[in-house]
Amino acid sequence: MKASVVSMKNVLKKFGDQVVLDDFDFEIQPGKIVGLIGPSGSGKSTVIHILLGMESAQAGEAFVFGQSMPDRKLLSRIGYMAQTDALYERLTGRENLQFFAEMKGVDPALVSEQIEHVSAVVELVDELDKKTSGYSGGMKRRLSLAISLLGNGDLLILDEPTVGVDPALRQSIWRELHRLRDQGKTILVTTHVMDEAELVDDVAMLIAGKLREYGQPDQLKKKYHESTIENIFLKVESQNETNVSHI
Ligand SMILES: Nc1ncnc2c1ncn2[C@@H]1O[C@H](COP(=O)(O)OP(=O)(O)OP(=O)(O)O)[C@@H](O)[C@H]1O
Ligand SMILES: [Mg+2]
Repeated sequence: MKASVVSMKNVLKKFGDQVVLDDFDFEIQPGKIVGLIGPSGSGKSTVIHILLGMESAQAGEAFVFGQSMPDRKLLSRIGYMAQTDALYERLTGRENLQFFAEMKGVDPALVSEQIEHVSAVVELVDELDKKTSGYSGGMKRRLSLAISLLGNGDLLILDEPTVGVDPALRQSIWRELHRLRDQGKTILVTTHVMDEAELVDDVAMLIAGKLREYGQPDQLKKKYHESTIENIFLKVESQNETNVSHI
């Protein structure tokens, strides 16, 4: 088996008395798109924060490319899009992209080409020279996604990337994610949109602190005799079993 890109073992994460992740295990193999789904407040963003070294766990291990984060060298290999946009509102879209490209250490000779590509993916080319403070919520999401694509990272971690994005553009974003996956990139994406959970290679369901299911959408559908991930999710959530099953 290839080395995991992401690996979490026996992770315990509490905020005060609240246990968010309870002996939590999670692995992602290279070249996969994994969709992490779970109810609001179940800990999806917390999983990401622990992976990126933005939060520390009370117990257990979390590795990205075999290293614990934060690791400055690894950051340039990871494209991260946070759930809350962190943009410089007084700068234009283009200036934000230039700033983050420099932060990520993108070769200066490649910056304009990359900005052109990532802004085309999110259909922001015509808005690039406007101040970000005047962007709509969806435009800000799209700019954040474009920023995460800069640097052509081997791992993309996207926390609800398509919130506020219209259906047509959402489809083209998913085409781009599939294209990147086909080039060998690994992608972890959280979503509330159950249709999107149909588009991933593996669905990971985080419920009550544990990974309750982890598998290919078609295999999960067979296992649960359901035709949609949404129905499976509702079933698993109501069962709230204690054991994770891998299929
Ligand atoms: N810094 C923090 N301090 C205290 N509690 C926190 C903190 N961050 C998260 N939590 C709590 O941990 C739980 C999990 O939060 P998290 O943001 O990871 O959930 P989520 O699955 O990403 O939810 P959503 O789908 O709404 O984004 C929530 O109950 C939240 O209130
Ligand atoms: Mg979240």
